[in-house]
Amino acid sequence: MCYDKFQYLNRVKQAMQGKSKVGSALQRAGGRCKPAGRRPESPPKPAPETAMRPVKENGRFRYKPVKRVPEVLLFPAGIKMGGNAGTTSRPSMGREDFLYAEEDEHMEEKQYLMLPGPTPVPPRLLRAMAKPMINHRGPEFKALYEEVIEGLKEVFRTKNDVFIYTAAGTGAMEAAVANFVSPGDKVLVVSIGVFGNRFASIAGRFGAQVEKLDFTWGTAADPDALAERIRADEKKEIKAVFVTHNETSTGVTNDLKALRAALGDHPALFIVDSVSGLGAMELETDLWNLDVVVAGSQKSFMIPPGLSFIAVGPRAWEARAKCRNACFYWDVEAARKSAEKGQTPFTPAIPQIAALAEALKMMRAEGLENIFARHRRLREMTRRGIKAMGLKPLAADDVASAAVTAVLAPEGLEANAIRRVLLKEFNVVVAGGQQSLDNKIFRIGHLGHVGDLEIIAVLAALEMALNRCGFKVELGKGVKAAQEVSLAALSGERGV
Ligand SMILES: Cc1ncc(COP(=O)(O)O)c(C=O)c1O
Repeated sequence: MCYDKFQYLNRVKQAMQGKSKVGSALQRAGGRCKPAGRRPESPPKPAPETAMRPVKENGRFRYKPVKRVPEVLLFPAGIKMGGNAGTTSRPSMGREDFLYAEEDEHMEEKQYLMLPGPTPVPPRLLRAMAKPMINHRGPEFKALYEEVIEGLKEVFRTKNDVFIYTAAGTGAMEAAVANFVSPGDKVLVVSIGVFGNRFASIAGRFGAQVEKLDFTWGTAADPDALAERIRADEKKEIKAVFVTHNETSTGVTNDLKALRAALGDHPALFIVDSVSGLGAMELETDLWNLDVVVAGSQKSFMIPPGLSFIAVGPRAWEARAKCRNACFYWDVEAARKSAEKGQTPFTPAIPQIAALAEALKMMRAEGLENIFARHRRLREMTRRGIKAMGLKPLAADDVASAAVTAVLAPEGLEANAIRRVLLKEFNVVVAGGQQSLDNKIFRIGHLGHVGDLEIIAVLAALEMALNRCGFKVELGKGVKAAQEVSLAALSGERGV
């Protein structure tokens, strides 16, 4: 017999409530049925264990123990289910998942979230977020806050002050402008894509005179060009230089150290957006004299969106003291005063901070250098894989990001069509192109809690998706190229 999804779920429900024959037999026996087609040789024994399932009560889910559902009901032949419904008869969910499916219309499935943020959240961090709430003005929070600030300083590689905002990365970008730039100040924004442009827009909103140093999307900023512009500023009018570390929209990483060196001893502040870079690639706040650095939670830190971080150095504090711009929520002075008490000025996202504490432990255990090496290897696997399929990355090898690879859609194919097939057929989520790159590129994130096998899986799906879109790719070519990188790294043959 063949069921559609809702008939099937209804049967599961009836069975659980004892309204069907199988269900009431199960309830009487208190046990598990044998799979279809086999008769039990002896009466079923009571189930040795129960499963926990979410039950809705007064609009909220609680976990309750339930008897297991007879297996005869779990995989009826030919059932079509989940996100692949209508496209394939492959059951894509596990048995436990089915217990929950009744309550969850969306049918949580294994999804390959290959975005440059939000990135996959490890279960350990999800569990940390489920802890009971604590007082954000109490001693428990103080201990938690001090622990995460200490850990963040290790990742920022700084002794400077680091603060946490309950905000998206853009919030910290706005803080990096509002606290240090006054109306009328001349600022130089180095832009190689969407996020460089965002810094320019924010600075403009806060009354700065914005000059842009633009580079073609897909390329990195040229430190010599910056040095030349800085040399031309004989009167030292430029108050701040804004730079994106890792331009997520194009998959390009700027040479931050060289760009900072290009500033020399010019008094302008050097303000960095490393929202998608910090924790995945090298960044030395103190060694490179970075005055302000901002980052976000949903990238290399592996936690859900909602937190952003800012590191503020001594020169930036001097600029803060003279700044004439108004800010309230973003005020780093207020953050500093609260930090002395182990607090944030406003109610923080406590679950995210609890997850951050766990994330920092994971990062410490893996080691920053190893994390960077893993990201470089994932980049190499991705780039070799897509090139072997006959695709081209947007960025050249020497400036390619270790966090995200932007891939040009092949001639005559829409990038978003490839993304649609990846999602519909394989549950693989990759990012699209932004603004002028929309539909021209797709972006494979390899950031945060991602390993070699995920890259291999995504490349396998991409090979099939391209064939489904009419772009012939020899199956296994991209996968093999990526496997070779992974294998070579295991054998220590390549420095990736
Ligand atoms: C480089 C960069 N800067 C800033 C942002 C903005 O972060 P959010 O979307 O959390 O505001 C992003 C987000 O992707 C980013 O990649």
